[in-house]
This record gives sequence, structure tokens and C-alpha cells, in this order.
Amino acid sequence: PYPVLAAAREKHPVFWDPDLRAWVVLEHDLVAMAFKDARFSSDRVSKFRGKFANEKLVPLFNTLSHLMLQQDEPSHTRLRNLIHYAFKRTAVGTYESEIQRLAEKLLNPSLTSGRLEFVGEFAVPLPILVISEIVGIPAADRAQVKAWCDAFSVVALNFYANITDAQLNAGAEAVAAFTDYLRTKVTELRAHPKEDILSALVHAEEDGDTLSLDELAANTLLLLNAGNETTTCLLTNGLLALIQNPEAMARLRRDPSLIPNAVEEMLRYDSPIQFMGRLAATDIELGGESIREGDTVLLALGAAGRDPKTFDAPDDLQIDRHPIQHVSFGSGHHICAGLQLARMEGRIAFQTLLETFKDISLATDTIEFGTNVNLRCPEAMPLNVKP
Ligand code: HEM
Repeated sequence: PYPVLAAAREKHPVFWDPDLRAWVVLEHDLVAMAFKDARFSSDRVSKFRGKFANEKLVPLFNTLSHLMLQQDEPSHTRLRNLIHYAFKRTAVGTYESEIQRLAEKLLNPSLTSGRLEFVGEFAVPLPILVISEIVGIPAADRAQVKAWCDAFSVVALNFYANITDAQLNAGAEAVAAFTDYLRTKVTELRAHPKEDILSALVHAEEDGDTLSLDELAANTLLLLNAGNETTTCLLTNGLLALIQNPEAMARLRRDPSLIPNAVEEMLRYDSPIQFMGRLAATDIELGGESIREGDTVLLALGAAGRDPKTFDAPDDLQIDRHPIQHVSFGSGHHICAGLQLARMEGRIAFQTLLETFKDISLATDTIEFGTNVNLRCPEAMPLNVKP
């Protein structure tokens, strides 16, 4: 998509897309500015919930409205602080060895077979296993919780565009079931706290504030979902970029201390999330265009990462590029709450891959990208690997 986005950006840094019925913002500096400007609202639930005049969907939309991702200041900051508190209390840094263990375990079968389907066998399961551990979903419950998360996620991502009644009903059932599940869990964790995010959130009241059960359900679903496909894209697109740039791969092998910077460059080079939505809370002038109150605005993170006004040779992967002020984690109040964890997973995944295999190559001539233009990622990436 990058040549198309570049051609569009050259003509208009901001333009109205009649098919998407939204403004698209393509320049890095304008995207960064919009992220920090309260006139670009994150709250889409208030505007769109009226479209769904069905009593049975009220609890579903209540849960959606409790997502920190859907809130503006000051209520957003209250939720965000509680999540920060939970991350601090569980000390993300201590998960290093657990991520390492999971990464090694996933790569183990390919050591003998010499083949690795990178997406299905590594890049999809790793973030799911990591976040389930950290949040505190026991292995026995994970398949069920994932099914609830998936049904909710379909609604959360589509309620303001196209959604079917069946998807809405499935989302409503999933939210009701997950809230019941959490009710029982909260009682257990009050009596026997553990070292995980859920326990920390349940016990947050000791330090002043607390989440209602509905707020806990919404934001636990968010934590369980937000980092999975995004991290899968980082790992897959990042490895693909290294395979296509063998001199960068060789340099990382010689100097693994460059890996954290390389991960940052991968995020800029191929942003896992291509578009982040906002609603204009008032009339706004941006990039010479007049955005009207209520219009949808899409901040094009992928295009921003390739903006030549901000980055020299933006279409080259330069693993020692410094500084890299990309917006692939967003910016401002809503900047990714899991970025520390995502960076850690990226670093450990690439360290482990390069240490485990002295040779990594594609086992196919064609890489098929999925149809989701927002989370752009190959659906499968078969590799030949040599220990
Ligand atoms: C928010 C990207 C991994 C949890 C965001 C936003 C972006 C983003 C762009 C901003 C949303 C907005 O402005 O509306 C990414 C990318 C990731 C990643 C590219 C991986 C490479 C994670 C992980 C977690 C996570 C691992 C889990 C802990 C969140 C949460 C928010 C968020 C909870 C909402 C923050 C808020 O609304 O204040 N992420 N993310 N993300 N991310 Fe991530």
C-alpha cells in the first residue's frame, strides 16, 4: 500500500475518502498533532449506540462505553491510571524470563523438522500466551475466554461501520458470560490474591479507586485483545523485512544490542495498525481542509511512518536509525498502554529466533497478505530454518 499512500500524501496531506466516508490524515506531523488534540474525540460509542435501538443490546453498549479506548478526558485518565497501577504492581519487567521460556518452547518442534510456519506456530500464539499469563487467565479457561474475546472484538471494531444482527447478539452473549465469569473470579481473588493484573485491579481499591465489574470486564477484554494481532503483525512483518534485507539480518546477528532499535524501526517501517479512528468533536481546520463536527477522521499510522518530511529515506529499513519518533503506538493520552510489553516481546522474539537458527529463509515464493487492510499481515509465512 505504501506507494499508493505516498502518491496520495504528496497530493493532499489530508483528504476526504468518499468510499470510507472519512477524512484520512497522511502526514506524520499532522497525525501526531491530531493524537494530542482533544477536538479529535475517541468516543464513538455515544454517537453510534442510538443506531441500535434494541433493549437486549444495552449491556453490550454499556461495556463498550467503559473501554478506555472509547473515552475522552477526564474519565479516560481515571481508567488509564488504574491499568498503569496494575502493570506497575505486577512489574512487567519480571515477565522477561516467562516470555523467553514461551518463545523457546514454541520454536522447539522446528529444531528437528527444519520447517516453521511462522505465523500460526509462533507469531499468533506467543502474544496470546503471554497476555493470558500476565492478566491471569488459567490455561483451562483460555479457549472459552478467547471465544468471548473474539465475539466482543468483532463488535468493538465494527459497530460504527458494518455489523450484522448475529454479530451483535453474539457480542452481547459473550459480554454477559464473561461478566459472570469475572464476578466469580473477583470473589476468588479477593480471598486469594495472585501475582497478576486481575488481582492487582481487584485490589486497586486499597489505594483509593476501584473499577466497577462492568469497567473491569470491558478493560480486561481490551487488555486480552489489544496486543495480540498487533504483536503478531510486528513479529511477522518485522521478520519478513529482515529476510528481504539480508545485510540488516546479518548485522543484527553480529550485534544483537541493536535489536531494540531494530524493533522500533520495524514498527515505523510497517505499522501493525494502519489507521486509528477519531470523531471531530467540533469543526477543525487541518492540513488546509475543513473537517466538520461529527466527521470521522482516520489517522494513517503506516503512511505517517513513511513520510519523507519526517524520516530520511523512509522506504529503507535502517536498523540503526536514531531517533525514531514513529506514531505506530499512537501518541498523547491514548498512547499504547502495552508498549513496554510489546517492545519486550519483540526484542525477546527476535533475540531467540536469531540465537536458535543460524539460517532463516522463506519456504515459499508468494506471501499472501490477509484481507484486513487495517492490520496488514501475512496470513502464513512458511520458513526453512537451520539450527
Ligand atoms: C492503545 C498499538 C501492543 C494494550 C494502542 C494504540 C495504538 C496501539 C496505536 C492507540 C489507540 C488510540 O489512540 O486510540 C499497538 C501496537 C502493538 C500494541 C502496534 C504491538 C506491536 C499492545 C499490547 C497491549 C496493548 C501488548 C497489552 C497489554 C493497549 C491498550 C490501549 C492501546 C490497553 C488503549 C490505551 C488507551 O486508550 O489509553 N495500542 N499496541 N497494546 N494498547 Fe496497544
